[in-house]
Amino acid sequence: MLVRTRRADDPQPSEITPRLLHEHRRSVLKAAAAGLAAWSASTIVDAAAATGESSGSPGATRLQARTSALSTMERPTPYKDVVGYNNFYEFGTDKDDPAAYAGSLRVRPWTVTVEGEVARPRVFDIDELLRLAPLEERIYRLRCVEGWSMVIPWIGYSFAELMKRVEPTAKARYVEFVTLADAGQMPGLRSSVLAWPYVEGLRIDEAAHPLTLLTLGLYGEVLPKQNGAPVRIIVPWKYGFKSGKSLVRIRFVEKQPQTSWNLAAPQEYGFYSNVNPQVNHPRWSQATERRIGEDGFLQRKRPTLMFNGYADQVASLYAGMDLRKAF
Ligand code: MTE
Repeated sequence: MLVRTRRADDPQPSEITPRLLHEHRRSVLKAAAAGLAAWSASTIVDAAAATGESSGSPGATRLQARTSALSTMERPTPYKDVVGYNNFYEFGTDKDDPAAYAGSLRVRPWTVTVEGEVARPRVFDIDELLRLAPLEERIYRLRCVEGWSMVIPWIGYSFAELMKRVEPTAKARYVEFVTLADAGQMPGLRSSVLAWPYVEGLRIDEAAHPLTLLTLGLYGEVLPKQNGAPVRIIVPWKYGFKSGKSLVRIRFVEKQPQTSWNLAAPQEYGFYSNVNPQVNHPRWSQATERRIGEDGFLQRKRPTLMFNGYADQVASLYAGMDLRKAF
């Protein structure tokens, strides 16, 4: 087992791009000039410009967002990899299938129904969700259970913002995230590789944690279809599959939801699925990861960090639990 220290998570000086800092300063000046007084205390970034990456979707709607202290300082994975190497089984199981086939996904009109154990059940239109709370850019690592990772400048706001609006009742102990299942738009539904719709779940305190991001964009633009347009969840301390794409229904429930991956292979994919280098997947190690975009013969794998580097923020959620059993 690898010995990990806090140092492993520290950014290398080379990982902080001078361009990023420069662009942040420029954005502040631009925002001030535009008279955005309420935002003046924080920087406003256009992530794509800030990282020097050009967007691959020329027609995409741009989003402006504040920077967030919850971001990692690691260098973001190149845009082309973020939108070209995906898991979205509704469009096929190969990594390049979502980019090739998700064009058929219709993202307008789009609503998300929030229901169950809430005092104020509501149907949110996607444009309402885009305005519900100030957008933040959160640069998070996405660590897939398959052993690869990326660093992605997501855009959204804490899921807790939405929770405030619907007021979960005392009976709400879990949240179920249900994603679109429409065979007319999603060719992958012909395969029975998973039970459709794709369903994921969180305990209510996990959902309410400020790190849990209701995600509407990445790299300064609205979410590309292959990344789960128009709205998904991102839970950065859990394996990527907990982050359901193209959400249509969010249900607050009393009992632990049955999730698609847990149903497909219960011995391999548990409900919690926290990134944990000490608990291996039954068929492979989880101790290290390959950073997408850094491939090469001599490229060394990186050590995987407990809770994907967010142990200080989230370990207390699991105090007293045996994470080998609650995997
Ligand atoms: N959501 C849906 N609806 N369908 C999927 O197949 N795959 C999951 C997750 N969300 C998946 C999904 C998995 S396994 C991963 S690793 C991440 O999405 C990948 O997100 P990305 O393609 O944006 O990197």
